[in-house]
Amino acid sequence: PVNVRVKDLMKRMTLAEKIGQMTQIERKVATPQVLKDYFIGSILSGGGSVPAPRASAKEWVDMIYRFQKACLSTRLGIPMIYGIDAVHGNNNVYNATIFPHNIGLGATRDPDLVKKIGVATALEIRATGIPYTFAPCIAVCRDPRWGRCFESYSEDHRVVQAMNQMILGLQGDIPANYTKKFPYVAGKNNVAACAKHFVGDGGTHKGINENNTLVDFRGLRRIHMPAYYDSIAMGVSTVMLSFSSWRGVKMHAHRFLVTDFLKKKLGFKGFVISDWTGIDKLTTPPKANYTYSVQMSINAGLDMVMVPEDYLGFINNLTTLVHAKVIPKSRINDAVRRILRVKFVMGLFENPLPDYSLVDQLGKKEHRELSREAVRKSLVLLKNGKSCKKPLLPLPKKARKILVAGSNADNLGYQCGGWTIEWHGSSGNITVGTTILEAVRSTVHPSTKVVFSENPDAGFVKRNNFSYAIVVVGEPSYSETAGDNLNLTIPEPGPSTIRSVCGAVKCVVVIISGRPLVVEPYVPLMDALVAAWLPGTEGQGVADVLFGDFGFTGKLPRTWFKSVDQLPMNVGDENYDPLFPFGFGLKTKPRSTV
Ligand code: IFM
Repeated sequence: PVNVRVKDLMKRMTLAEKIGQMTQIERKVATPQVLKDYFIGSILSGGGSVPAPRASAKEWVDMIYRFQKACLSTRLGIPMIYGIDAVHGNNNVYNATIFPHNIGLGATRDPDLVKKIGVATALEIRATGIPYTFAPCIAVCRDPRWGRCFESYSEDHRVVQAMNQMILGLQGDIPANYTKKFPYVAGKNNVAACAKHFVGDGGTHKGINENNTLVDFRGLRRIHMPAYYDSIAMGVSTVMLSFSSWRGVKMHAHRFLVTDFLKKKLGFKGFVISDWTGIDKLTTPPKANYTYSVQMSINAGLDMVMVPEDYLGFINNLTTLVHAKVIPKSRINDAVRRILRVKFVMGLFENPLPDYSLVDQLGKKEHRELSREAVRKSLVLLKNGKSCKKPLLPLPKKARKILVAGSNADNLGYQCGGWTIEWHGSSGNITVGTTILEAVRSTVHPSTKVVFSENPDAGFVKRNNFSYAIVVVGEPSYSETAGDNLNLTIPEPGPSTIRSVCGAVKCVVVIISGRPLVVEPYVPLMDALVAAWLPGTEGQGVADVLFGDFGFTGKLPRTWFKSVDQLPMNVGDENYDPLFPFGFGLKTKPRSTV
């Protein structure tokens, strides 16, 4: 049994070996010698920290193989666990399937689909030799001004809970007779998951990233905790702490919420990991009193430290604090027990090395089909026709000449959003999928002429006498704090593209964004409006529905506000007066059934 194996191993471990297990270092500083000298327990590639921009699956596997061999050659041969942000597919690799970001999955309201995405994602992560992902983000984003809104399935905790099937997809279905609340990872094609960011990350004041969450304890339990209760029941292996504070106390030092609540009351048995340099950032400026920060966070219940910027400083500080009895040995033992438990449970001791036979699983046809299905189901139709009698959608495939316009029509990086190849997103190296423009071209009748102009003026549109136009505008890609935005307007030239095109020809506007944006002033100009979120590589899914091969079924996963003065505004609030309410979404039938 796992507990016996953990106990036996721990009896043989020195303090240095235990502290090494608690240390997660960045790939760039990891060398076989460092891994061996400090008994490092984990390595990560943080957003975009890939071995090479176009690293193939085999190169990833080679790298992980080399690192793992070094760890296995130590006295006790404890395998390291390599972690990565695979948050919408294995988004770190140029030829992987990129799925819609969580906000789009929330719009599908289809937990089975999300679970299948988890299964596919796990396989594509394993294809690169990696056994652990920092996903899913189960934040309940209460304010779309937050730069991580797109990583949240919904403003409503019930939708977040439903979509949390992702954990079962990634880790595998938990057997009926399994020890309650114990971490669980089914097999070699599954990965350890990470519910993040504990807790209240989506509830910060004005949606400012890493800020203070002010909701009271009742609100914290009612809104932000339920998805954690479920995650634990599903055997989630790890939980990541949030950079944010709750009522003024940083989560990375919150002993009550981490130890008393998460571990003791909720019974979480996996390990708690920090966010990137999370303990360094306990003080302002970072590392102002590093020894104190190490003491506070480890004593609060943190088990594995992601990127202590100066990992040697961390190891030395922690060692000194244990010798001085400021941090009790029992605390170190609790941390290491949890880390080893996950490693044993997931079979890392039996199968520590990556499986080269999986490298061709990346971007495979079945996964791309699944992603395309998810895109179709994620689209939310907000308006269809200036009068209800004359809907514009579905669009005819056969037309004389049509216009595709807008900054987001032919940009795979924008379409995929942040956490794609690079931390803030990038399209540079992606070889899988199509942009929406390419998808339109391949869907229309061969006789239909498709003209693309990113930001045409009204004169051009009028002169050309188009049958109709598809305008695709929205946000550029971003991640974390870089995405915080207090005004949420459609970035220029989006509004001017909408004005000049929709003022001159029948048009459908497709918004590519990680959240609702200010659209109210332009809605009267549009014949149809579609929220497509951040669909990922499979732009074809958008064309499938625009042209009626499939119907619109998506429902708003969040409230679409009229103006930012209304924020925060969530379903159930007093004076709820949205442009489109939570759950809204017009339906259309596939053309074949009309
Ligand atoms: O997993 C992420 C987290 O969500 C935000 N900060 C960095 C981590 C590792 O890249």
